[in-house]
Amino acid sequence: NMRKIPIIMDCDPGHDDALAMLWALSEPEKLEIKAVTIVAGNQTLEKTTRNALRVLTFAGVHNIPVAMGADHPLMRPSIFEEGVTEMVHGQSGLDGPAMPEPGFAPEKMSALQLLIKTIEESEEKITLVPTGPLTNIAALFLVRPDLKEKIERISLMGGGAYTGNWTPAAEYNIYVDPEAASIVFNSGVPIVMAGLDVTHQAYITREENEILRQKGGRIAVFAAELIDFFSRYHYEVEKLPGCTIHDACAVAYLCHPEIFVEKQCHVDIELEGSLTAGTTVCDPGNYEGKEKNATVLSGVDREKFAELFIEAMCKLDK
Ligand code: RIB
Ligand code: CA
Repeated sequence: NMRKIPIIMDCDPGHDDALAMLWALSEPEKLEIKAVTIVAGNQTLEKTTRNALRVLTFAGVHNIPVAMGADHPLMRPSIFEEGVTEMVHGQSGLDGPAMPEPGFAPEKMSALQLLIKTIEESEEKITLVPTGPLTNIAALFLVRPDLKEKIERISLMGGGAYTGNWTPAAEYNIYVDPEAASIVFNSGVPIVMAGLDVTHQAYITREENEILRQKGGRIAVFAAELIDFFSRYHYEVEKLPGCTIHDACAVAYLCHPEIFVEKQCHVDIELEGSLTAGTTVCDPGNYEGKEKNATVLSGVDREKFAELFIEAMCKLDK
């Protein structure tokens, strides 16, 4: 079986971030979460931090360091202060299930300091799992490019080869901070990109969510209630056939790569376009002949994904 992978999750909880974190916690024989760093994205930094601490507290985890990172993109105006994402994640950023208040405080150090400390202290190369805007990861590479060689790869949720979900051409995480995404995609560190092409296939149906709820464990019911809230936007606004657990793809790929369809290709980020800023420009046809810096996920066995997701939520209840 595979060697345990040490990871750092960089997230903006967010319902799907929370589910991705729970999935990572449910596979201790495959993944070890060394640290959790927080970025503003779905909500302000205060709210995404509080949400991460509440999820970890609910899951009975108090020994993973959590540190607060960027509350603003590197250089563009932030788009989340106006509460634009409240229709997706609610006023708290994690509306739906009842949750405890945080059972522990974030570290005094910043996310950047925690990223540096964790990577420096690790004997093994670290895998980064960002599921929000890439501001913290870009800052790490700007301040300590020497640490790139201690990073195995970056398995991220973001972008889309053929579609956007915040503008016609750009996906939210990349659109919030395109400059940060450009720094990350051009860092030379291997990227696994779980973009909308695959995450729109990675959905849980109403029936599957009822199966999850019937499992009855507290984590299973909690996950089902997160999906109850999160799926409203998917059914009512995005008219999707199920609730896409976008961020969970970045974790699921590390544990079960065999259920995904992938293609090595060059990806770069559009920074200038008035219509296309934040677009992940993917070149699967290799027209440019540039370095294939990313493994782009283009498909997933949806039934297997749903089955493994439900299994993961139930494992945590053991
Ligand atoms: O576009 C989907 C992404 O934006 C997900 O990471 C979701 O949590 C939001 O951050
Ligand atoms: Ca997210």
